[in-house]
Amino acid sequence: MKNYKGYVENIEKISSNVYKLEIVSDLNCVHSGQFVSILIPNKTFHRPFSVSDFDADNKIFTILFKLKGDGTKYLSELKINDKVEFLAPLGNKFNLINKNSLLVGAGIGIAPMLFLKKELNQKNIKNYLISGFKSKDEVIKGSDETVIGGSVLDNIDKIVKDKNIELIYSCGPKIVLKGICDIAKANNIDCFIAMEKLMACSIGVCRGCAIKLRKNNEIIRASVCKDGASLRGEEVVWED
Ligand SMILES: Cc1cc2nc3c(=O)[nH]c(=O)nc-3n(C[C@H](O)[C@H](O)[C@H](O)COP(=O)(O)OP(=O)(O)OC[C@H]3O[C@@H](n4cnc5c(N)ncnc54)[C@H](O)[C@@H]3O)c2cc1C
Ligand code: FES
Repeated sequence: MKNYKGYVENIEKISSNVYKLEIVSDLNCVHSGQFVSILIPNKTFHRPFSVSDFDADNKIFTILFKLKGDGTKYLSELKINDKVEFLAPLGNKFNLINKNSLLVGAGIGIAPMLFLKKELNQKNIKNYLISGFKSKDEVIKGSDETVIGGSVLDNIDKIVKDKNIELIYSCGPKIVLKGICDIAKANNIDCFIAMEKLMACSIGVCRGCAIKLRKNNEIIRASVCKDGASLRGEEVVWED
């Protein structure tokens, strides 16, 4: 991980509240599941975002960000060629396993799933991406199936059975991730989840993003930013 300076290659609004930001920099290797943390001027903490695509030939990575507060408002006002400072690459990449995979993205959780789909396709690993959005104007394109309105979880058990799914990957709010882990367990298959937690340092120092993991029957303390953001679903100890 190191500090990079990059430039805005392109920025566009792709749904009612989400922007696609492409940054060109010296970062020459990043994989799905990993994230970058962007410096926002006059703010103490960087803002973490999953990498949603990477063009290695041109050294351009993409993030999709949803408007939330001051940091994302600042990003939405960037113009082509503006300078951007960020820490990267952060976190673990997804394990790419040669199994018939279901990818589930809830809302902006689709961002890392799009990159994962691209990497699985490059390795000819069979996959199916389903995503869910609250309304039609929030839809982000790129899925094999899109659920609008209802919960994306409603269809998962049926898809797992109908498509003989052997592995699930997911990113989204905690309630969806926990639901995915329960469905995976009930179907006796593995799942990997990309978890979001409020972050301060993004580099494993402040313990602000602490979680508990169960490894070899022992509960260990871990950090989402360092030990995640992609985690083995069965290891996560869910707490309120
Ligand atoms: C590993 C990881 C990957 C993420 N990937 C994406 C992504 O691909 N697209 C996207 O739109 N958002 C993503 N998020 C959430 C994103 O970081 C927050 O929406 C963003 O930091 C909000 O900043 P803000 O200044 O606009 O909002 P504010 O609410 O003003 O932020 C205030 C503080 O809270 C933190 N914060 C607020 N919400 C979150 C959150 N959900 N997770 C972590 N920190 C938060 C901010 O970093 C900041 O320090 C990700 C978060 C994590 C941890
Ligand atoms: S955000 Fe500081 S340890 Fe994870």
